[in-house]
Amino acid sequence: MKIHATVESMRAARAGMGARVALVPTMGNLHDGHIALMRAARECADSVVASIFVNRLQFGPAEDFDSYPRTLENDRARLEAAGVEHLFAPDETAMYPQPQRYHVDPAPTQAAILEGASRPGHLRGVATVVLKLLNIVQPDVALFGKKDYQQLMVLRNMVEQFALPVEIVAGETIRAADGLALSSRNGYLSADERAEAPRLARQLNALVKAVRAGECDFSRLEAAATAELIAHGWLPDYFTVRRRIDLQIPQGCDSELVVLAAARLGRTRLIDNMEI
Ligand code: PAJ
Repeated sequence: MKIHATVESMRAARAGMGARVALVPTMGNLHDGHIALMRAARECADSVVASIFVNRLQFGPAEDFDSYPRTLENDRARLEAAGVEHLFAPDETAMYPQPQRYHVDPAPTQAAILEGASRPGHLRGVATVVLKLLNIVQPDVALFGKKDYQQLMVLRNMVEQFALPVEIVAGETIRAADGLALSSRNGYLSADERAEAPRLARQLNALVKAVRAGECDFSRLEAAATAELIAHGWLPDYFTVRRRIDLQIPQGCDSELVVLAAARLGRTRLIDNMEI
């Protein structure tokens, strides 16, 4: 696997790649969720580029930018084993030689809700770095996980609204055997918290089952799930049924739905969702 630390090196390599190039952007500390995206990328493209960049722009001032796990050596080995040919791993000066003064501002209806309400500016930082990564690598296809459902929706809309010549492919959420969605932030959990953490997925799953069984009073289900989490020491930011297409509040039971949740367990903020 070739590692590119600069935009110039990445661009030069791009010229020699296969007919269809896939990009899988990540912030590193790779787990099986990331690797599943790499495998999916190999199936839909001739050449696969992974990127690892912990993007300061998408972290709030009180968030975990400094402590975010940086494990480049392990990541490199995992990518190599997954058959990834190119890794774009710029440092901050390569990615932001000057402070980034131009940004992608996603529509507030999509980026000020849910994650955007709890993490102001987060999705602006994500959209900005992803646009930049797409411009640097110029992939034909870019892959993102449904684990970050709102991020995926915002990026799909960015690509559509700016007519970016790239196809967006979504990967299903990969979970541990007990249901906990894999996340780099799971490493922050203590042993007790790790044992408690699957409750979030269990509550999502219970709500999905109830709606599929015909229950249509979403607020009752959301309140019950929220109360259950609080009773077990969680601090929920949201637990809400939304329309898949735009994450707005559904009018009835008939649109395509997803239930999304974010909650703090100790010092760790976990997010998860399930399509209904
Ligand atoms: P990161 O959290 O490293 O995730 C990289 C990609 O892996 C994202 O598309 C994310 O949705 C996906 N992913 C994470 N956990 C997953 C799981 N359990 N199953 C399936 N896919 C999973 O998301 C980011 O980085 C950043 O915001 C980024 C898009 C790279 C921009 O900086």
